[in-house]
Amino acid sequence: LPGKQNLAERLEAALSQARLAFLKLIAAQAYELRKPVYIVGGFVRDLILERPSFDFDVVVEGNAINLAKALEKNYGGHLVSHSRFGTAKWQIDDVRAELIRYLPGDGHFDAADLPESLDLISARTEFYEYPTALPTVERSSIKLDLHRRDFTINTLALRLDGRHYGDLYDYWGGMNDLRRGSVRVLHSLSFVDDPTRMLRAVRFEQRFHFRIEERTLELIAEATDLLRQVSADRLRHELDLMLSEENAAAMLARLDELGLLRAIHPDFIWKNEWRERLESALVKPLPAEWDLPDSAGHMPARRFIAYLLWLMQFPLEAGLAVANRLRFPRPMLQSIQAVSLIKQTLPALSSPRPSQVVNELDGVSPLALYALRLDGLAPNLEILLEQYIHRWRKIHPFTGGEDLNRLGLVPGPAYRQILTQLRNAWLDGEISSPEAEQLWLSAMMKEIDPYA
Ligand code: CTP
Repeated sequence: LPGKQNLAERLEAALSQARLAFLKLIAAQAYELRKPVYIVGGFVRDLILERPSFDFDVVVEGNAINLAKALEKNYGGHLVSHSRFGTAKWQIDDVRAELIRYLPGDGHFDAADLPESLDLISARTEFYEYPTALPTVERSSIKLDLHRRDFTINTLALRLDGRHYGDLYDYWGGMNDLRRGSVRVLHSLSFVDDPTRMLRAVRFEQRFHFRIEERTLELIAEATDLLRQVSADRLRHELDLMLSEENAAAMLARLDELGLLRAIHPDFIWKNEWRERLESALVKPLPAEWDLPDSAGHMPARRFIAYLLWLMQFPLEAGLAVANRLRFPRPMLQSIQAVSLIKQTLPALSSPRPSQVVNELDGVSPLALYALRLDGLAPNLEILLEQYIHRWRKIHPFTGGEDLNRLGLVPGPAYRQILTQLRNAWLDGEISSPEAEQLWLSAMMKEIDPYA
């Protein structure tokens, strides 16, 4: 390899003592089996860009499962392996405390510094029988393994075993593109093999402030329509990753610019004027007094709010259509609908009574109401919303169903009506003490049965 570099020093500086010793342990085991072993992909890229990253993918030139078995035999833990792919996950979360005693070096290691598991992968090439298919897998050299990857900047490999420790293998021009700030595919069928790579290209470009290289942009233009066939799960995964990035809004803007959102669904767009709203959802601490749930539809609260804030910018039908295309869970669809309805009904109430507001907002997810607030409301409506969240929604009468039963009322739909009216009376200030509530109830009972 021309201009071969050694990154041992950089590696030593970037990793904690425990992690470094852990890598050396793996390297020593691989050396014993006479198998070249490499860290590849994102970790090496980030090492060179001096952006620390913590999980490493390890590729073995040979059978990774054999290496994993040797590690398990010598140091414990347990394995989950897939022989079809030649991959193994070495699970060490419960043996880390013992494992640190085996680590080479001066021995002052912190077990919590070790990863919970390590993925070991056999170098392989993949063939795609047809676009978007799962790949067919075959063992191969590290060079070919690197060639199946998405972009040149992800094809760098750092060798660990024996005297090769720290050697950088740059078979596909990754260093050059890192230096130039270029996101470039390795071959012209890359996006046909895996259309989600178009979204990854944007993510890397905006994360590192790089540019997608010219020819790669052309290939994206040619492959855009393939996104139509990609499953909602895979698309959502990529969008989720973007929303966890610092430059999320810039990524969405770029997706829009390249026509990638519209390829996912014709109504799917992004506008820069939504940026601040999105960022406030993703970055601002969530207000404790809102008692927001931690998640909705298996989605962390922040992400839920961010998606909702985005989808509620569209006309209702379009928002629902996009949400359906991406197979968002029911709470998202319900929230899109609720928000759209509230946007119509709330302003239509001129100086409403509290009970009217409660009537409109009860049953709507607090996450949706919070999204509504971040979206920006007219000042008078914002006050109503705040009142609802901080006071009104917590107001309930003392009387419950059992009390009505005790008063001799036959259980039925009337219960709900009475209790709602009673609550409304509290909300609108017609009742403000338990005694007044009793009087109200007696009057009510008389109305129902004047002879009682
Ligand atoms: N990869 C790929 N095609 C994909 C997804 C991943 O070729 N559709 C390759 C990439 O080369 C990447 C490696 O698999 O380096 C691991 O994937 P991932 O962990 O997603 O990539 P990272 O580069 O580590 O991404 P991040 O920095 O966001 O963690």
